[in-house]
Amino acid sequence: MRKNIVAGNWKMNKTLQEGLALATELNAALEGATLKCDVVIGTPFIHLAAVAAAVNTKVVGVAAQNCADKASGAYTGEVSAAMLKSTGAEYVILGHSERREYYGETSAILNSKVELALANGLTPIYCCGEALDVRNANEQNAYVQKQLEETVFNLSADDFAKIVIAYEPIWAIGTGVTASTEQAQEMLAFIRTLIAEKFGKDMAENTSILYGGSCNAKNAPELFAQPDIDGGLIGGASLKVEDFKAIIDAF
Ligand code: 13P
Repeated sequence: MRKNIVAGNWKMNKTLQEGLALATELNAALEGATLKCDVVIGTPFIHLAAVAAAVNTKVVGVAAQNCADKASGAYTGEVSAAMLKSTGAEYVILGHSERREYYGETSAILNSKVELALANGLTPIYCCGEALDVRNANEQNAYVQKQLEETVFNLSADDFAKIVIAYEPIWAIGTGVTASTEQAQEMLAFIRTLIAEKFGKDMAENTSILYGGSCNAKNAPELFAQPDIDGGLIGGASLKVEDFKAIIDAF
């Protein structure tokens, strides 16, 4: 059975002290509560160890937002998947459009990152999604299909079973423009069909697929009620406990 997941992506926000305070407050708000979804927070690298130690990771899972495409060695400034795992993090967000767009992450680079994450026992939250010009040309399905075919569809079935997919249309990220419920459901259903064709129906039914892009407390209930939307990847609204908790409670 696939899981419902609400994952926060803090991006490059919060000092260590602010991040620790946010994580601790979130943990206190969730511990003991009956939750209908798994909760994950994606923090900057430097927060990971402290945050993982401060929360009950059975209640609040911890994610990195990136990892190196190399295992170890002379790669100044990089952080390996093994290092991430050693902090207590269990997830890593990979292929975010901001990484693809601003840091030149190609499918080849992402294949290495996904492989290393899996080899080190991390769960990749693998992002895909099209830009506005692609959507306006109504080519979003082919675009997302290509992103998946060039990367995670090359995994073995055993490995694919360990990943989470997040569809984040670039035009909806940080813009306040959410994909309509119909647009989000349609794309996630399409992705599930692709998974079924590639790995079989059981795999499709068991893969968690999230929507991301201006998801908030207001639109989350309708989005999460859709049959193929298993949760959200949340940027701005994950930076305040009140906002993030309201999204978690939308299930
Ligand atoms: P926003 O929720 O701020 O639009 O960001 C979405 C996102 O990019 C999460 O990874």
